[in-house]
Amino acid sequence: MKGLTRIHHVGVAVTDLDESIELYRSAFGGELIHRATNDREGLEAAFIRTGSGEVELMHATREDSPVGKFVAKRGPGLHHVAYAVADIELALKQAKEAGVELIDAAPRPGMHGGRIAFLHPKSVGGVLTELVEA
Ligand code: CO
Repeated sequence: MKGLTRIHHVGVAVTDLDESIELYRSAFGGELIHRATNDREGLEAAFIRTGSGEVELMHATREDSPVGKFVAKRGPGLHHVAYAVADIELALKQAKEAGVELIDAAPRPGMHGGRIAFLHPKSVGGVLTELVEA
């Protein structure tokens, strides 16, 4: 299939991961489905199920990590939108041909299975955009 198939998840930068998981549980009945740390990215993430999509709660484990810098500059809040694609190589090629600047020129492993790639927010109306092969 060509193109975006659905919103896969929304990334939210948080300052306290346990507190945020509890907020999504108590306020929205959100179910924690996966929690993982990526040392290279300086990131701990918790994925909350929201029907067919997810919320990725993102907490920096280092101040100089990408999410750490984001929070220092802009505070906690909406970080990125991720769309599901069936063929991530094709989706990246189409985006590039359309003039979108790629952060990841090639797909890389995501935090819970599947390959991902980020597109530069300046090419997508100010929205950091992630593609997820799903
Ligand atoms: Co994400």
